[in-house]
Amino acid sequence: MSGLFARKPIELESERGLLRTLGAGDLIMLAIGAVIGAGIFSSLGTAAAGEIARDGTVIRAGAGPALILSFLLLGAVCGLAALCYAELASMIPQAGSAYAYTYATLGEMLAWIIGWDLILEYAVGNIAVAVAWSGYFVSLLSGFGIFLPGWLTHGYLQATTSSDPAVHGLLESAPHLFGVPIILNVPAFAIVAFITWLLLRGVRESARANNIMVAIKLLVLGLFVVVGVQHINPENYVPFAPNGFRGIHQGAAIVFFAYIGFDAVSTAAEETKNPQRNLPIGILGGLAICTLIYVIVGAVATGIVPYQQLASSDPLAHALELAGLQTTSWIVAAGAVVSLSAVLLVFQYGQPRIFFGMAKDGLMPAWAAKVHPKTRVPHVTTMVTGLVVGLGALAAEENMIYDLTNIGTLAAFMLVCVGVLVLRIREPDRPRGFRVPFIWLVAPLGAAACLFVMMGLPKTAWERFAIWMALGVAAYFAYGYRHSVLRTGKQVVTEELD
Ligand code: ALA
Repeated sequence: MSGLFARKPIELESERGLLRTLGAGDLIMLAIGAVIGAGIFSSLGTAAAGEIARDGTVIRAGAGPALILSFLLLGAVCGLAALCYAELASMIPQAGSAYAYTYATLGEMLAWIIGWDLILEYAVGNIAVAVAWSGYFVSLLSGFGIFLPGWLTHGYLQATTSSDPAVHGLLESAPHLFGVPIILNVPAFAIVAFITWLLLRGVRESARANNIMVAIKLLVLGLFVVVGVQHINPENYVPFAPNGFRGIHQGAAIVFFAYIGFDAVSTAAEETKNPQRNLPIGILGGLAICTLIYVIVGAVATGIVPYQQLASSDPLAHALELAGLQTTSWIVAAGAVVSLSAVLLVFQYGQPRIFFGMAKDGLMPAWAAKVHPKTRVPHVTTMVTGLVVGLGALAAEENMIYDLTNIGTLAAFMLVCVGVLVLRIREPDRPRGFRVPFIWLVAPLGAAACLFVMMGLPKTAWERFAIWMALGVAAYFAYGYRHSVLRTGKQVVTEELD
C-alpha cells in the first residue's frame, strides 16, 4: 500500500507564466459571474419553505424569513474557506483547483477523493442548475402563452417525490410506455446539449461575456427587489424564524449552493496584481457583495408571499406571479434563463478540464486526456460530461441534487482548509503569493464551519455521499492506484498539437 500519500512536487505544477493583470475589482466581477445562479434563483425556495416528504415527515425545516441569517452565516463560512483556497492557489498556480492543491499537499489518495468530490460540485451541481433553468424557461414560455405538458417539463424523480398533487399526479396522467410513465425534463436536457455543443466548438467565457452576464444578473435581481419591495406585506415576516435555529441551519445547508464558485475565483491568484493585497479584498469583497445581494433578495422574496409558497424551482418568478406582477415575473424569468445558462457554461467547461488533469496524472483512463487536434478542446470528456449531466437532468429532482452537490463541495472545502495548514507546517519557507492572516485560527475554524454546515443536510444526503465516496475509493484502487504517473513513471500522451 505504499505511495497512497505520495505528493506531487509543487515544481511540477508551476508551468505557466501568466501575466499579473487582475485587480481587486476584476476579482469581484469574476466572483459575481461565477457565483450568482441557481442558488439564489432556485434553491432559495426550499431553504425558506423547507421540505416535507409525501408521507408528511419533515425532510428539512425551512428558515422562513430568517433565511437572511442563513445567508450571513454562509458568507462568514465561505470567507474562511476562500482565504485558505487563495493561499494554496497562490502557491500552486494550476487550473484544476482543489484537486491539484491536494495532490501537492496531502497526497494522491486524498487528491483523488477531492477530484471525485469535485464531480459532485461541477457535474452533479450542473444537473440542478439545468433543472432550475427549465423551471424558469417554462415560466418564460407561459408569458408567451405557450404551455408545455407537465410530463415534458419535470423529471421522473420530481414526480415520485413531490408533495404537490399536480406534479405527483403526472405518474398517472403522463403517457405510458409498457406500463412505465414517460416523465422527462426535456428543456433541462436540451440546454445541456446546447451548451455542450458550444463548448465542443471551442467557446469559452471571456472577460467581456462575464461582464455582460454580471450586468444582466444584477439588473434582473435589482428589478426583482425594486418592484417586489413595493408589494411586501409585513405580516409575512411573522414569525420571523418559524423553526428557530434549526431552520436557519438547515436552510443554510441547502442555500449554500448559492455560494459555490468562490473556489474558482481563488484560482486566479497567479494572474492577480499584488495578490497579498488584492486577493483578500477581491474574495472577501466579492463574498460581501454577493451576501448583501442575497440578503436583500431573500428579504424581499419572503416579504412578498408567505414563505411556504416559495417552494418551487422558480421561486422568484413564482412569488411575483402570486403577487399579480406578471410582466416583472416574465422579465425575471428571462434574466434567470440567461444567468443560469452562463453558470452551466462555466461548470460544463470546468469539469472536463478537471478530468483532463486527473487523466494526465494517470488517475483516469488515457482517453480522458485526449484533446481535439483542431479546437484543442478536451472533446471526449466534454461529451461524456454533457451526456451524464443531460441524462441526469432529464430525470432529476433538484433538492436531492443540491444536497449532494453541497455535501461534496463542503467536504472539498474542508480538506483545503486542512491542507493549507499542513503545508504551512511541512514547508513553512516556500514562497506564497498570499498568506492567510491568523492561519491557526482561520484554517481550523474554516474546516469546522464547513462541517457544521454539512451537518444541516438531511440524513439521505449523508447516505448518498457515503455511497459516492465508497465508489470513489473502489475506483481509485481499481484504476488510479495502479496507473498513477507519479508511481509508475509512465507519462500519458494527450495528443495535443504543439
Ligand atoms: N453558485 C452557483 C449557483 O448558484 C453554482 O448556480
